[in-house]
Amino acid sequence: MKWNPELYEEKHHFVPEYGRGLFGYLPEQAGLSILDLGCGTGLLTRLLAEKGHLVVGIDNSAEMIRKARTLHPNICFETADACALPWNERFDIVFSNAVFHWIREPRLLLQNVWKTLKPGGRLICEFGAEGNVGRIRRAMEKAMEHRGRTYENPFFFPSEQEYRSLLDDEGFMIEHCAIFDRPTPLNDGADGMRHWIRQFFAGELHHLEEREQAELLDEMDAFLKKELWDGAQWVADYRRLRVSAIKKERGGK
Ligand code: BEZ
Repeated sequence: MKWNPELYEEKHHFVPEYGRGLFGYLPEQAGLSILDLGCGTGLLTRLLAEKGHLVVGIDNSAEMIRKARTLHPNICFETADACALPWNERFDIVFSNAVFHWIREPRLLLQNVWKTLKPGGRLICEFGAEGNVGRIRRAMEKAMEHRGRTYENPFFFPSEQEYRSLLDDEGFMIEHCAIFDRPTPLNDGADGMRHWIRQFFAGELHHLEEREQAELLDEMDAFLKKELWDGAQWVADYRRLRVSAIKKERGGK
């Protein structure tokens, strides 16, 4: 998917804001080497740097990295593929917010994270869990069906048990792994849901003419209104999986 960093900064800054909840899983000491995997426009990377850590932010979107470099010129940002990381035993922490659900090869991703961490290093991440934005996905499915098209969930939204097994298989000792509901208010009042859909379902909308897109968004708004509109704002049905896990020694793998 092609990211729009301006739209993301303007309308979806809540995405990194929620990631602050992960900071509580960081060890106390300063000066840790931290890879922010999927850093977007770099807000959390900057906050980690301000805590005194040595950070590198990576993202597979060159547009996002360009924006991150402009916004935070003193921080190191690189374009990189999370499934082909170039480091071996380089970081104390791999940190990631709202990214792992985009990656369809979770095992390969964890193998890359494992390789990148120093012995005893830690993965701290949060991403969409089983059922995440389930109502919105259902509305997209229906609206696509009405147009003779199919919608297939492109995301990896695992159950807790599924992810625990993956972590265990790939050499991590689990400290914390739990799912929670996180109803998420969207910006922009009545237009909030259509802005969200335009950003995050851009890949699906891309196949439709502009007029057809507008009709589909109207239909989704109407369908979702009774479920996700609280009278003043849209509240998206996010469900998160939060993980803190330590790299085991090879013998323990
Ligand atoms: C999420 O962050 O949970 C998410 C992002 C894009 C599409 C669906 C879910």
